[in-house]
Amino acid sequence: MRRKAIGIDIGGTGIKAALVDTKKGILASERIRIETPHGGEPDAIAKACQEIVEKLDEKGNRSIGICFPAVVKHGHTQSAANVSKRWIGLDAHELFSHALKRQVHVLNDADAAGVAEMKYGAGKDEDGLVIMTTLGTGIGTSIFYDGKLIPNAELGHLNIDGVDYETKAAYSAMEREGLNFEQWAERLQRYYSHLESLLVPDLFIVGGGISKQAEKFLPLLNLKTRIIPAETKNSAGIIGAALMANKVLERKG
Ligand code: BGC
Repeated sequence: MRRKAIGIDIGGTGIKAALVDTKKGILASERIRIETPHGGEPDAIAKACQEIVEKLDEKGNRSIGICFPAVVKHGHTQSAANVSKRWIGLDAHELFSHALKRQVHVLNDADAAGVAEMKYGAGKDEDGLVIMTTLGTGIGTSIFYDGKLIPNAELGHLNIDGVDYETKAAYSAMEREGLNFEQWAERLQRYYSHLESLLVPDLFIVGGGISKQAEKFLPLLNLKTRIIPAETKNSAGIIGAALMANKVLERKG
């Protein structure tokens, strides 16, 4: 497998990127972060990515993995969380290939974070059914069975008590409503126990920026399933996207 690739993690507020050593699962350059262009429109985001890529890969020979807060099927974004609705139904693969003039692979952000976590982080050597959740602006989820990704699980949007529960249990809800960790943990309890009753996993991994403070809320949860914090933290999406780019593009030859 090629050793280095660029990973770009696009979110509603920021775009983060770096060159990644995909053999070791670590960043091989400084991590760049820029604000997501206002409105999150496709062309503006593609242009922002262009600027980032020029900084990271002057020679123009690296492949690029791009992860995005949406369902991504065959390179098309089929939903759009916290970015312009124009992404819905868009051929994102075509948009980025054209703008970046390199081989690209586009995937869901939680899938990318999960891939990094399963290979290099808390999910290493974990068999059976593992569910990775990222608690941020939304709730991203990725599912693995014996280490193999089942893509595009949108379990952050489970309808619990009549509402899309991402609006209650994402980290953004805690901030928005000024909840303390105990109050937020009650919602997480409701969310994870519902999830475990539906899917009976072997392990939950909790990622997203707030997982750095996992000791403040994970011990408050009472679940049948083991639940542990992610290890790759802020760069999981970047690393997983780069890894998938190399893997998928190599397969395609
Ligand atoms: C989106 C997912 C995404 C998650 C985290 C959710 O609102 O539906 O596709 O993975 O947010 O960004």
